[in-house]
Amino acid sequence: MKKIIIAIDGFSSCGKSTLAKALAKALNYGFVDSGAMYRAVTLFLIENRISVQNIAAIEQALNEIQIRFQAGSTGNRTYLNGVDVEDKIRSMQVSELVSPVAAIPIVRRAMVRQQQEMGTEKGIVMDGRDIGTVVFPDAELKIFVTADPEVRAHRRFLELQQKGQEVALEEVRNNLSERDHIDSTRADSPLKQAEDALVLDNTDLNQEEQLQVALDWAQERIQAQVL
Ligand code: CDP
Repeated sequence: MKKIIIAIDGFSSCGKSTLAKALAKALNYGFVDSGAMYRAVTLFLIENRISVQNIAAIEQALNEIQIRFQAGSTGNRTYLNGVDVEDKIRSMQVSELVSPVAAIPIVRRAMVRQQQEMGTEKGIVMDGRDIGTVVFPDAELKIFVTADPEVRAHRRFLELQQKGQEVALEEVRNNLSERDHIDSTRADSPLKQAEDALVLDNTDLNQEEQLQVALDWAQERIQAQVL
């Protein structure tokens, strides 16, 4: 069976990663959370006190940053220069700075190159903001996920609470709308629906239901490859 590339894009906290992960598992494909890469770069800049304005220092930092993913007992973990940073990159401190960092062209260029390398063998599900438009414009299946903003804020709030992070719903809501604004209006590869993307609104769907919709689409596209 020929393998395909599945690109999943959408606004902040709309369930893209959950869907991408489940889809990859069901198809026995690789999964890449491209947002985790931008989050890891952001953490590196915070820890090394590098300002988002200091492009020369960021360029230098990009040469020193190595990001990889490794499956662990608690799911996929992100490693920054050999250290497991999965929990740290999900903090509000990183969420607050990640969109300005992800808007920097040299940062995008470095991440997109690595993401494209990960897809050379196909058989991959990648989620982010520009996967169907910039990273894999020829992906066989592109899904654009949407959900009601209030539902998204509640989902992320509960997720953070479960991880023991003290945060107010209002803070989460503001962060999502701020990131959505920066991500959709930046000059370099803004978040937008690819013309050939299928839209999945999961406001009223649970995880199994959204997976079923996406799996049906994927099977259809995989079968079309064999013909
Ligand atoms: O999980 P959540 O939807 O909150 O965000 P994420 O997927 O972890 O992405 C974090 C941030 O990284 C986004 O708000 C974007 O600014 C940036 N990002 C991007 O610019 N391009 C991507 N392909 C993925 C993420």
